[in-house]
Amino acid sequence: MGKNEDAASPDDTAAFGTRYLVDKSKVYDFNAWDNVEWSDEHIETAMAKVEEQRRHPVCNAEDLLKSPADQWDKFYNKNERKFFMDRHWLLKEFPELDFSKYADDKRIRVLEVGCGVGNTTFPLLDCCNKEKTFVLSCDYSPTAVRLVRENDLYNEDHCHAFVWDITKPTNEIPDNSLDFVLCIYVLSAVEPQKQKTAVENIVRLLKPGGTLLFKDYGRYDLTQLRFKKDRYIKENFYCRGDGTLVYFYSQDELHELFTSSGLEKRENTQDRRMIVNRAKKVEMYRMWLKCNFSIVNSIFIPQLTVYWSHSYRVIHK
Ligand SMILES: C[S@@+](CC[C@H](N)C(=O)[O-])C[C@H]1O[C@@H](n2cnc3c(N)ncnc32)[C@H](O)[C@@H]1O
Repeated sequence: MGKNEDAASPDDTAAFGTRYLVDKSKVYDFNAWDNVEWSDEHIETAMAKVEEQRRHPVCNAEDLLKSPADQWDKFYNKNERKFFMDRHWLLKEFPELDFSKYADDKRIRVLEVGCGVGNTTFPLLDCCNKEKTFVLSCDYSPTAVRLVRENDLYNEDHCHAFVWDITKPTNEIPDNSLDFVLCIYVLSAVEPQKQKTAVENIVRLLKPGGTLLFKDYGRYDLTQLRFKKDRYIKENFYCRGDGTLVYFYSQDELHELFTSSGLEKRENTQDRRMIVNRAKKVEMYRMWLKCNFSIVNSIFIPQLTVYWSHSYRVIHK
């Protein structure tokens, strides 16, 4: 994993989302362009690279899948807080998190899953009204959770960090109790076979009307295409040099993953960026996916809502 590998994400430039490549002869005038359509040629090249990766799979995949939390724990022991950038783009990308817009005075309960050392948790606490918000933050790396708790900005009046592997059930949070769940570059770290269980485990914590916000890697993102030999585990799933795992999604897969867990689509969009190495005249394509999926709040009588969501889960299991 390269340091701050989502560094070309919307957080790094004020011009994000507004620079379009209309005249192709000007491609080397800037370092980055937004929303660039992928040509057939680019997609064919990407498919050829993946085919090459398939021919050279990693040999110790089974070992890596046995203890992914240990790999992340080692990662945080080594890198501590020095690796990921704070996600200061949160409100820009997820205006739903601007709680000042909500008239209701009830405290909004947000869970961040796979919080790492708090690069999303602390910017979120910083940009929202702390009296109106309570942020629960979990990660399955005990070292990451310790680093969140030791941060000077950590305050149990507004935040609670705890160890939880989202592929397993938890008693830490009651069912139907959360307004938002944030999944920022975390589901991609979960083995594909366990992702459905992980999503079901977090969806059951959402209130009716509650929302899951997601941002992660899209299929054929530069990060995927850069993997060389001995990194491929299975389709679109790889290990990095430090043993951490990463999956690259299509929009259709995410739609199926979230809707089959009882959520309804509000947004499922591609965030495409072309990065240009002007000196070497090389064009590189980034692709992130951004989603907002919610539990439909179709029944408004509180007692019935509880009944509805409970029976919904029973039927759905
Ligand atoms: C790429 S990091 C992202 C960290 C943070 N969300 C951010 O944006 O800075 C992925 C995080 O997910 C955590 N993670 C991966 N699988 C997990 C699981 N099954 N349960 C809880 N945390 C998990 C890892 O420990 C790691 O901290």
